Amino acid sequence: MPSEAVFKSQDAAVYTTSTGAPVARPYAAQRIGKIGPLLLQDFHHIDLLAHFDRERIPERVVHAKGAGAHGYFETTHDITDLSCAALFKSVGTKAPLTIRWSTVGGESGSADTARDPRGFAIKIKTEEGNLDWVFNNTPVFFIRDPAKFPHFIHTQKRDPQTHLKDADMFWDYLSQNPESIHQVMILFSDRGTPDGYHHMHGYSGHTFKFVNKDGKFHYVQIHVRKDGGFKTLTDAQATKLAGENADYGIQSLFGDIEKGNYPSWTVYVQTMTPEQAEKFRYNILDLTKVWPHGEFPLRPIGKIVLNKNVENYFAEIEQAAFSPSHLVPGIEPSADPVLQSRLFSYPDTHRHRLGVNYSQLPVNAPVAPVANFQRDGFMAFNNQGSRPNYQSSIVPLKYQEKAYENVEHEVFLGAAQADLSEITELDFEQPRALWQKVFNDTDKAHFVSNVAGHLGGAKSAEVKARQLSVFAAVDQSLSDRIADAIGAPHVKPLQAKSATEAIRFKYAAV
Ligand code: HEM
Repeated sequence: MPSEAVFKSQDAAVYTTSTGAPVARPYAAQRIGKIGPLLLQDFHHIDLLAHFDRERIPERVVHAKGAGAHGYFETTHDITDLSCAALFKSVGTKAPLTIRWSTVGGESGSADTARDPRGFAIKIKTEEGNLDWVFNNTPVFFIRDPAKFPHFIHTQKRDPQTHLKDADMFWDYLSQNPESIHQVMILFSDRGTPDGYHHMHGYSGHTFKFVNKDGKFHYVQIHVRKDGGFKTLTDAQATKLAGENADYGIQSLFGDIEKGNYPSWTVYVQTMTPEQAEKFRYNILDLTKVWPHGEFPLRPIGKIVLNKNVENYFAEIEQAAFSPSHLVPGIEPSADPVLQSRLFSYPDTHRHRLGVNYSQLPVNAPVAPVANFQRDGFMAFNNQGSRPNYQSSIVPLKYQEKAYENVEHEVFLGAAQADLSEITELDFEQPRALWQKVFNDTDKAHFVSNVAGHLGGAKSAEVKARQLSVFAAVDQSLSDRIADAIGAPHVKPLQAKSATEAIRFKYAAV
């Protein structure tokens, strides 16, 4: 079957209907005489309006506003002891990639400089299939119990009645779910307002597993660090830009790549053996914790360079469909329950947003050839020709054995249980270290003023007091400073369970 024909050049292009018929007067509509009604036979006019009526697809339910570009990943260090992924087979192996950054809570027209975490989604097209790293610009997240995600997101979006963003809703959720505090500490520092999209680090946040050819695995955290460091805005700068240029991030990314200022990142992993994971102070499946760099140093693995702007934003960025479940042999998910939920949620939302054949859209189509028994459905434009649509004995499809069929996995035993985490003292240690050891005096002043500017907008005294008690569990002076800034009474720390009651990670090899 011939593929879609294209005009050889802009000069050669002439205006046609969607079915390729030339139209001489595109602004004209057929009618009877000069004043009569329009004619149904005017295919061009109906084609034009009907297509226009369907131009919008659903925006992403979260991360709707974003920017992106293309480039490549290159393996710079030998990590075959960690992973047998074809991407890492030798130093110098390169694969094309697309990155999309985004804010989380705002709609597709909202401001690029809003205080929000940033999505950092990377699609690497490897010779063994697409590898998506659907990361954020923060190493931790607000939740560790996946069923909380829709509740949490609803409170960061609009009130059902007023259709306004609502400080009471926002802090009501966070104060009732104090495991969010680590992410809140980052979000309300100046790292919550990055300077554009392409001066940020990206983090897997979740623990993944790298598996080598012998089936041995390491738990890993992946870090994508901006060469030259990240850049942030102050709250005042971000607010001003939000009013003056809502598309500041998109514009500066496009401008930099157009000028040849190609942004680049160095990719690292932190690694942990299953035995180390059992002894680690925190549960490695808890997305609200980081692994200290002193104990688990960053090991370089590769680099990312962005060197190509998109030619068509909708086709190359809006239609991009990332999923943490788009993995390749040698890289596997951990049992982190939030990650496990995400493995389902992304392909599910893509089928809704883009259709069942979303993987066939050019930006998503792998460079690795696809052969399976999936057929048909809306927009099946790569329907695998005459190849049988079942496993035929006459024309069989070969199966490629996995390099590490005998991979050692955790054993999961026990009855099904409704699991929900609890707040313990451990939840405040890393936020406390941020406040007491990482933030300098300016960072502290900015943090207090950024929180006060937002929490001060909440009407409920109870919500304010509850969030202040969460801050007090981090550090009493931090809470008191915020209380003074919003004119609220000082409160005592929230009482958490003791650290020894925390459920640690248990690993059992087969
Ligand atoms: C986007 C679900 C947690 C990073 C999305 C989308 C959904 C979703 C439905 C829209 C995707 C689309 O329409 O293309 C969830 C659920 C979560 C969760 C259910 C937890 C249970 C996280 C976490 C991270 C993350 C922890 C980062 C570590 C992203 C990114 C995007 C995104 C980067 C934007 C992808 C793009 O640019 O197209 N998420 N998410 N999400 N999420 Fe999550």
